[in-house]
Order: sequence, then structure tokens, then C-alpha cells
Amino acid sequence: MKTLFSGIQPSGELHLGNYLGAIRNWVALQPDYRCFFSIVDYHAITQHYERREMPVRVMDMARDLLACGIDPERSVLFVQSMVPEHTELSWVLCAVAQFGDLARMTQFKDKSARQEDNINAGLLSYPILQSADILLYKATAVPVGQDQAQHVEFCRRIARAFNRRWKKLFPEPEVLLSSTPKILGLDGQAKMSKSVGNTISLGASDKEIRKALARAVTDPARVTREDAGHPDHCNVHTLHTSFSDGERIAWVRNGCETAAIGCVDCKSALADEVIAHLGPIRERRAKLTDDHVREVLESGAAAARRVAGETMAEVRAALGLWRPAAL
Ligand code: TRP
Repeated sequence: MKTLFSGIQPSGELHLGNYLGAIRNWVALQPDYRCFFSIVDYHAITQHYERREMPVRVMDMARDLLACGIDPERSVLFVQSMVPEHTELSWVLCAVAQFGDLARMTQFKDKSARQEDNINAGLLSYPILQSADILLYKATAVPVGQDQAQHVEFCRRIARAFNRRWKKLFPEPEVLLSSTPKILGLDGQAKMSKSVGNTISLGASDKEIRKALARAVTDPARVTREDAGHPDHCNVHTLHTSFSDGERIAWVRNGCETAAIGCVDCKSALADEVIAHLGPIRERRAKLTDDHVREVLESGAAAARRVAGETMAEVRAALGLWRPAAL
């Protein structure tokens, strides 16, 4: 079986955008790969956060991942900072990472522009830590969104540089892009994000789901109920393609183009689908106790450390770093 690695920042509870863009795909990949999924808290400290909130965010994220179907019997789910080999390998990789490559990263440029008063070295080195995440497990598949493709490309380059300079230890990982279409937030403007407030939390009640979808922005061409619309310009239609079956998608498309249905009908049908989908996740989540989540993270960290420790031993040997056997 091929090895797969992916990470997610501990942003707290998952929302619909994370679910459709990443997590649903992770869940589906589990039977075909040996999977490592990490909640990357060391990445998160490069941006502002409330110290008190961090443990809550990590726990909420872990609970949501389990509720969505990440199966700890099958996959290793762990918190990055509990496996110190990540930061250890990261330092080694610093010695082959090129400053010019790091400075060119789109995400570094975006984030630096957003926090001009705090362009810390961690923000610049972010892709090095991400490469360490992947390479520690010698993962060859990395399911991420398009926005992370450049970082995986960077990881390939760094693996090549390591292999050339010291020893051929690392395979070059490949991006596994999911087929999810680009989904905008309910404002129809920006990518779904909790901070923008244009998404639905996975824990939302049926009523909250209906209310949020009722406000969702649709094709601006449909000013009145009688105006025909363009499903391809409508984010609600895109959401239908992620949740509904073929028959319903055809009903939406046809109804919108001929003005046979209004946006209210379309959204209410979508709400039914979203509720049918999120209901079971919400139920599973309610049954997950804190103790159980902690246990999963503890054994996940232990399993990750076994693999990561072996890789680090190989790395130190490749570098010519001596250490007594007893250590
Ligand atoms: N940078 C990724 C993101 O923001 C998260 C991440 C960290 C990651 N390490 C990773 C993704 C390793 C894939 C592989 O979405």
C-alpha cells in the first residue's frame, strides 16, 4: 500500500468548505492508502491565535475529523507537536531549502501582505515544516487543494536536494487533487472561511442550516422569480453538485434555466440534502467523549513516532551525525 499524508490547521470546528474541499476526500482515500493525518499546530503558531483557545481548537478539530469518518483503526490521526521529529527534520531540511524558493511561495506573499507587522521566519519556513511532515513518513501521495500544490512541489524539490546531497532516502510525493469543484462561501464572493462568516459549521442544527442557506447568494441574473438563471454562475448550484444525486441536479439545472423553480425552491432542496448529509456526522460527534478523542490522539502520536523515529535515525546516519546506541 502507498503511504499518504495530509495535514489541517487546528482552526477549531470544521465547516462545510473544509469538509467538501478536503475531509470527505480523506475519508474516501482511507481504504486505499496507509494514511497519516495530522492536526498541524506548529504551523498554526506562525499566525496570530489566542493561547487559551489552542487546546480547544485541536480537540474540536480531532472530534470533527472522527465524526466525519476518519477511522483510527485504519489511519493514524495525530497532533503535530506531539511528534517532535517533525521540527527536528524541518531543521535538517533548512540546510537544503533555498531562500529564493521560499520567498517565491504565493502563500508566503499573501500571508506577509496580510500581517505586515509580523513577517516572522516561521511564515517563510512554513513549507519546510510541511515538507518534513510529508517526508518523515515517506508519503508518496498528498491530498490537498490547489492552493497547496505549490508547497508539495516545493517538497519534491527539497526531497531531490536531500537525496542528492546526502543519501537517497525520500520518494518524491505527488499531489492528489480532489475533483471537488471550486466552492465559494454563501456570500458567493470569497472562499468559505470561518473568519469571513460565509460558511456553515459541521455542527450546525437543521434550523441553522436552513437559515444560512436561505441567505446564500445566487445568480444575480435572477432578480425576480420569473427571470431565468445560469446554474453555472450560481454557487448554490455548485453546492447541489456536491450533495445531490444526478436526478436532483438535473431538476435544479432545468428548473433554473427555465424559471420553473425559484431560488427559494432550489435552496430548500439543497437544505434537505445538506441536512441528510450532516445529520449523521452530528450524531456521531455527539457520541464522541473527550476521553475517547484524547485516547485516539495519544495512540496516534505513539504510532506516528514509531515511523518518524525510524526515519530520523536514517537521516542522522545519512548526515554523518554520530549518536551512541544507548540514546
Ligand atoms: N499547509 C496545509 C494547509 O494550510 C496544511 C499542511 C501542513 C499540510 N502540513 C501538511 C498539508 C502536509 C499536506 C501535507 O492546508
